[in-house]
Parts: sequence; structure tokens; C-alpha cells
Amino acid sequence: MGNEMRIVSKGSKDKYIFTDVCDEHPESIEMLHRLAGDDIDTTTTNLDITNLDAIRKMVKYNDVKMIVNCAAYTNVDAAESNEALAERLNADAPKNLAIAMKEVNGLLIHISTDYVFGGDPYNTPCKEDQKGTPTGVYGQTKLHGEQGIIAANCNYVILRTAWLYSEFGKNFVKTMLNLTATKPQLKVVFDQVGTPTYALDLANAISVIIEDYKEETANYNQWASYPKNGIYHYSNEGVCSWFDFTKMIAEIAGNINCDIKPCHSDEFPSAVKRPAFSVLDKTKTKKTFEADIPYWIDSLKYCLKHMM
Ligand SMILES: NC(=O)c1ccc[n+]([C@@H]2O[C@H](COP(=O)([O-])OP(=O)(O)OC[C@H]3O[C@@H](n4cnc5c(N)ncnc54)[C@H](OP(=O)(O)O)[C@@H]3O)[C@@H](O)[C@H]2O)c1
Repeated sequence: MGNEMRIVSKGSKDKYIFTDVCDEHPESIEMLHRLAGDDIDTTTTNLDITNLDAIRKMVKYNDVKMIVNCAAYTNVDAAESNEALAERLNADAPKNLAIAMKEVNGLLIHISTDYVFGGDPYNTPCKEDQKGTPTGVYGQTKLHGEQGIIAANCNYVILRTAWLYSEFGKNFVKTMLNLTATKPQLKVVFDQVGTPTYALDLANAISVIIEDYKEETANYNQWASYPKNGIYHYSNEGVCSWFDFTKMIAEIAGNINCDIKPCHSDEFPSAVKRPAFSVLDKTKTKKTFEADIPYWIDSLKYCLKHMM
């Protein structure tokens, strides 16, 4: 997600500092140049967000007014046996960022997940104020992260998203692009329904929030709070199963020789039960930020065009 923030911030008058816990990823830098040109900012400053003092220093030294947190422990299955690390990164770290923003009355934009839901059976899109019912450690620790941010009482926008993919890193689209090109047959689950989210669309939505915050707070005194503090949902528009998603990836890519069949989730046993219906209701986001959200197939076509 951080790479998409680099792309959308290109040309902005604001100063952005991109941080990570380790050194740069050369393959991401290459992709950044391909997607956004030679003049894209690829510098990365080292920052471990589990270290509150390090965050405080960074905020003070650079007079940081806003943080967009794209970092997380995102391996859903591995989280089951790495609970302490998942909690540090998904719960303690966002709370650290929230504390640092509270101290300077800045804004924390934090990315959360549809995996905070899933324990209760339902078949209508999840709303922001619906009770969290995570089914595993990843969802539980991400829910703790949200609660820590709210308790820190800073200005915050928590954006829950789902089924994130992009040109960068490992993700479902890249995996299926490869599998449908190389395998004669493939089984994909049809009993888990949700909405894919193109990371660049989410980054554009974050830019809209940043501009809104700047505008809203321009007229306030330094310590006023942002009237739009809260939890919001963001995915692309529409609904599909993982099976439909894969069929569409193969169709757009022209991978016509792979026979793709639907199957049930229990054919792929995993450490965590995934939400069966993880569609996010985006009404509040669209109303509050006047966000124009692209349809999932349109965004998938755009992304695949760049990827291939
Ligand atoms: N992927 C999805 O389908 C999905 C769905 C819903 C919500 N989300 C949420 O969306 C956000 C972005 O997800 P993503 O898929 O882009 O994640 P990702 O690719 O796994 O990236 C996470 C980043 O966090 C960094 N990181 C790890 N430990 C850190 C630390 N101590 N300090 C600073 N940075 C650290 C990682 O650095 P290294 O790479 O150097 O380790 C990595 O760059 C997350 O909040 C995730 O929970 C994702």
C-alpha cells in the first residue's frame, strides 16, 4: 500500500516521508519507476513503528502533521502461531502512532480490514458500527489496533478495506495471473464473497481525505479536532466470489486454456476460518468524503494492463 501512496503523492506540494522497518525492496523501486516515471520519490527512511520514542523523534524532527499507516502483520495464517508479534504490529504500533499524533494534534489515517468481521453469520454488507466478530488472530489484533487508536483520542480516520491487490508485492491477482497461465485446471472457492480493492484506488481515496482534513482544519485553532474522525469502509464497488474474481483475471489476461472450477472452502483447510460474506458497506464513506469509487472489474482491467 505504501508504494501506491508514493504514486498518488507525486507532484504534491506537501512534504511526504516514506518509512519502513527494513531497507528498500529493489523490485518495488523498479515497478515504481515503470508506473510513475523516473522522478518518483523512492527514498525510504528507516522507522520501526513498534518503537514509540523513534516515532516521537521522527514526528518532532520533521514537524509531521499527518501519518498514513500502511504497515501491518498481514499473514493471516501465520498470525495464528505468532500472536505476540501480530499484536505488537497490528495493535501496539497503531496505538503508538495515535499517541504521537495526539501529542501534536495531527491526524492518523490507519488501514484496517474486513477480517474484524466474520464470526457472525450475515448476508448484508457490514456497516462501520457493526460489532467486530473476528475469527482469528489477525482480525482480533487489527480490531485491537482500532480500539487503541480510538482510546488514544487523537484525530483519526480508520479505513477498513478488503481483498487488496496491486502491481506490487505478492497478492491474489498476481498468483492467479500466474496459475491461470500455467495450469490446465484450477479450483477456486465460490463460498467466500467480498469485493476486491485496487490499492491505487484506496490511495486516491486517502488523498481525498488528506485534502479534506487540510481544508477542514485550515480555519480552526491548532488544537481543534477533526469533525470527521471515525471508522470508514473502502473497497471497490460490486461483489464477487474468489472464483468469479479468478475467472475475470483469466479472461482479461487472455488465459483461456485454464479450466477454472468452483469449489467449497473446506477443500482448502486453513488455520483460520475466513469470513463467508465480507462485503463492506461504503455508504458513510461516499457521503462524508464525496468519494467516487470505481467498479472492481474496471480497476482490475486497469491494474492488469499495467502489470502485463
Ligand atoms: N492485503 C490484503 O488483502 C488486505 C486486506 C484488508 C486490509 N489490509 C490492510 O491493508 C494494509 C496494507 O496491507 P498490505 O497488504 O499492503 O501489507 P504488506 O504488503 O504486508 O505491507 C506491510 C508493510 O509493513 C511493514 N512493516 C512490518 N513491520 C514493521 C515495523 N515494525 N515498522 C514499520 N513497518 C513495518 C512491512 O515491511 P517489510 O516488507 O519490510 O517487512 C511492509 O512494508 C494493512 O493494514 C492490512 O492489514 C490488507
